[in-house]
Amino acid sequence: MTDSIHFLMCSPTYYDVDYVINPWMEGNIHKSSYDKAKDQWHQLYEVIKEHTHVYLVDPAKGWPDMVFTANAGLVLGNNVVLSRFLHKERQGEEPYFKQWFADNGYNVFELPPELPFEGAGDALLDREGRWLWAGYGFRTELDSHPYLAKWLDIEVLSLRLVDSRFYHLDTCFCPLANGYLLYYPPAFDAYSNHLIERRVPPEKRIAISEPDAVNFACNAVNINEVVIMNQASEELKQRLAKVGFRVIETPLTEFLKAGGAAKCLTLRTTEPVLEDVHATVSVTSRTIRMEGHLLDAGTMNRALDLVVERGGSFKVLNFDLGAERQSTSTAEVRVSAPDQEVMEDVMTELIRIGAASLPEDEQDAQLEPVPAFGVAPDDFYVTTIYPTEVRINGEWVRVTHQRMDAAIAVKETPQGVTARCKLIRDVDTDEKVVVGVRGIRTVRKTEDRSRSAGEEFSFMGAGVSSERRVELVVEQIAWEMRHIRDQGGKVAVTAGPVVIHTGGSHHLSRLIREGYIQVLLGGNAIAVHDIEQALMGTSLGVDMKQGTPVHGGHRHHLKTINTIRQCGSIAKAVDQGVLTKGVMYECVKNNVPFCLAGSIRDDGPLPDTQMDLVKAQEEYSQLLEGVDMILMLSTMLHSIGVGNMTPSGVKMVCVDINPAVVTKLSDRGSIESVGVVTDVGLFLSLLVKQLEQLTNPYAEPQVI
Ligand code: ARG
Repeated sequence: MTDSIHFLMCSPTYYDVDYVINPWMEGNIHKSSYDKAKDQWHQLYEVIKEHTHVYLVDPAKGWPDMVFTANAGLVLGNNVVLSRFLHKERQGEEPYFKQWFADNGYNVFELPPELPFEGAGDALLDREGRWLWAGYGFRTELDSHPYLAKWLDIEVLSLRLVDSRFYHLDTCFCPLANGYLLYYPPAFDAYSNHLIERRVPPEKRIAISEPDAVNFACNAVNINEVVIMNQASEELKQRLAKVGFRVIETPLTEFLKAGGAAKCLTLRTTEPVLEDVHATVSVTSRTIRMEGHLLDAGTMNRALDLVVERGGSFKVLNFDLGAERQSTSTAEVRVSAPDQEVMEDVMTELIRIGAASLPEDEQDAQLEPVPAFGVAPDDFYVTTIYPTEVRINGEWVRVTHQRMDAAIAVKETPQGVTARCKLIRDVDTDEKVVVGVRGIRTVRKTEDRSRSAGEEFSFMGAGVSSERRVELVVEQIAWEMRHIRDQGGKVAVTAGPVVIHTGGSHHLSRLIREGYIQVLLGGNAIAVHDIEQALMGTSLGVDMKQGTPVHGGHRHHLKTINTIRQCGSIAKAVDQGVLTKGVMYECVKNNVPFCLAGSIRDDGPLPDTQMDLVKAQEEYSQLLEGVDMILMLSTMLHSIGVGNMTPSGVKMVCVDINPAVVTKLSDRGSIESVGVVTDVGLFLSLLVKQLEQLTNPYAEPQVI
């Protein structure tokens, strides 16, 4: 008998499953046997009494879960932090537990109302008293953890629960004597597992299987070398025996129906305080502000989901729904994270979707020097496609050359401060780079809902169109291309060789000739196959009229390359009258600049192909400056490259026969990109037809 250890229990006089507040209770309402529950509880009581002293708190009628005294509060030394139950079904237990603690001479701390915390069900002391493990995710709010640290003066390690069956920390986690830990890793998110692994050495971690976990093996009472639980597999008992623990099984099946077992039915009321242990808590929080069509555009949902997905938690402080359908809403949300690392991750994503700090909390962006040319400081902020501003010396500075996956390079000169997106390979030592997530905001355009339809091109929303919708989408694209041409705007095309194989060459040539396209981007192959077709009538050796392979045709593309090499360049081939038609011919004739970016698999290459990829990327990005729309025609690699260089606001149309490619490319999280799953040759022919209709609506449709 260990006299210095005391427990608190509550007899099951009024115990029953009366409601459902966890998955175990589902289907079990009034299904537990009172007599059996009483017997099981008494057995547990006797077992524990053999080892320590047990106090009893009087049960209260109408509060059936009061047997689970683990949820009364969290005790350390003479202090107790009282529980604030999440569910109203248990809130009525609070005054009874409070009374008991007060009567027994404890200092009672009470959390602010509306801040759920479920006592020792969600907060477990390391058995050596070195720190407190605290759970959150289902019953307890992360924001309660800093209070625990402050009031109990102990380090708090926050663990996020992710499996609703293990809704309290004590259902899947049990610190044991001598630094051992019994736990069920899948009940925690990756970050929490990482934290556990950093604190508890491998030889001290006893990870249990799912069958043991659902038998509540972690919901155990540990008194020195004894571990009391509902049930354990032979294997688990042996593992525990090997490291010096003796398992005592005592059936608690009637309590499992309410989602609790041995540990839940007890509260250890003597937890010694270590002299040299003091509070630290890494939980941080920030309040963010969002504005826009938060509900209609789904921004609010996305923001809250991502906070939780990435390991944080939130509280909506204010939500002001716009009065009219077209007015915007604003929201203020308090975001908490178990530590700074998670907070930065969450904030990066929130900034991406347009969240900003409250004006009173705004801070300057954090700048750090460039350690060496082409190397960004650690923790540099990685840009998105959205217009971005950074706060420097109290002023918001617009970042230029917006693109994704870049760093923000800041230069302070006597003329003022400039900030621009730069690839890490380009940052220079006379610049500073923005690090962390402070003082950065993205400016998200809120679509004006009142704008009359037709005034601005309205794509059919992001997403992939079905075959039936293709014609409708093409009609809209044609309308937009026409509009851009009339306004003197700029359309870029990035195209793969499939455009030629599928018979699209003729249509693409025509679009260039008629001034619909201002830039062409692609690889060696599109040009080679286009020229092969112009010179020899085949594309990769296949006769384009007959659709059959030509004898010796597999060498055609090499002969083509050789011919152009002989001329010196594509433009020279045109000048010399060697190349007289096709896509590349039209580019030369109509002064449409192009860039052909090489790759490892290129034959030749053509003299025009840029085999220095860094240079090719630079040329691409220069040619894309000021572009209004990009047609991405069956080329995943070039399209991804182009997408990365392009800021938001540019309309993108991605056409591919493979839905996976289209989904990948049109997923820019905005309504400005559209995917069309179809044969690219067919798409181009429809597009040309539509443009013709726009030009001459009364003409008989022409067969092209
Ligand atoms: N029915 C109770 C609830 O859902 C069970 C509590 C179990 N207690 C525990 N510490 N895990 O709140």
